[in-house]
Amino acid sequence: MTDITTLEAELSAAVDAAPDAQALEALRVSALGKSGSISDLLKSLGGMSPDERREMGPKINGLRDLIQGKIAARKAALEAAELDAKLAAEQVDLSLPPPPRRKGGVHPTMQVMDEMIAVFAEMGFGVAEGPDIETDFNNFTALNFPPKHPAREMHDTFFLPEDPRGERKVLRTHTSPVQVRVMHRVNEQLPSWIANGQEPPIRVIVPGRTFRKDSDQTHTPMFHQIEGLVIDRGIHMGHLKWTLETFIAKFFETSNVTTRFRPHHFPFTEPSAEMDVRCDRSGGEVKIGQGDDWLEILGCGMVHPNVLRNCGLDPDVWQGFAFGAGVDRLGVLKYGMPDLRDMFASDVRWLEHYGFSAFAAPNPATGLS
Ligand code: DAH
Repeated sequence: MTDITTLEAELSAAVDAAPDAQALEALRVSALGKSGSISDLLKSLGGMSPDERREMGPKINGLRDLIQGKIAARKAALEAAELDAKLAAEQVDLSLPPPPRRKGGVHPTMQVMDEMIAVFAEMGFGVAEGPDIETDFNNFTALNFPPKHPAREMHDTFFLPEDPRGERKVLRTHTSPVQVRVMHRVNEQLPSWIANGQEPPIRVIVPGRTFRKDSDQTHTPMFHQIEGLVIDRGIHMGHLKWTLETFIAKFFETSNVTTRFRPHHFPFTEPSAEMDVRCDRSGGEVKIGQGDDWLEILGCGMVHPNVLRNCGLDPDVWQGFAFGAGVDRLGVLKYGMPDLRDMFASDVRWLEHYGFSAFAAPNPATGLS
């Protein structure tokens, strides 16, 4: 009797004191397992007289039920406490600022190209493109550079090794060969898939990469140009001048643009000119639309009759103008970057400073983002 009461008190205290699920399980085995203390008592019923059994049976069974119930309750309490502790440890502090995320940006050259394309697109120009590796024919010959003409050297060309057919391709020195690709309809020297030009009238711009052996503060071996080509009937220099002045005003976001044409020579245009824009250099930075200085910004002219002929167009029917400008250089001017070479140095700090957001709101003046 005393045994059962003592055992009940001991086991109850031990269950209440069990610190975790493991200790509780050990306790359960020691009481209710095969040779546990309560199991032993239950086994002892078999050796008792019927009277004793009648008296002791309910007590021992009662003890078993009681301890089983207590263990189950303690188990549930321990599990609940464990869950509470876990939830408390994993609590999220919604007031904490999020960790900074690295954002990509638009490279200034690509931004400037997009701005230029947007301005010309508004004037009705389409966009044409050509490959970086170009035939000598498209880069020079069709553009009226004579075979041994020193002008070919003027471009400090990167030549590729001769191919098995003896052809020496070049990394294009300018975007002008795309003029040929756009105009070309008939030419025996080219495979038909290249001679797939458009029927005039033509109005295209050609943004792209160009290459020359040159490197200093204002030259990089790889740079970007934008070419323009207009072919139609009755085209003259007045059209060229209006187009370029309109472009410069929109691109630099000023209505106050003064330009001048200086006579120049390009093999592929006649007459040829370089266009300067009035600027102010007094404050150490170049300001377009003010001052008394001039800044050379692009080459241009009327498409040479030989170029038209080389592309299968009759110069007595079709006339046109063309121009070519350095994209990076105009970007440097517009956004005030000190050294052209930084554009391609891939320094992330520079890109973070001068780069543009891909998600910028459109500029209300230009409609560009
Ligand atoms: N291709 C010339 C260069 O790279 C630039 C140029 C000048 C392009 C006059 C033209 C042009 O289309 O008409 O220096």
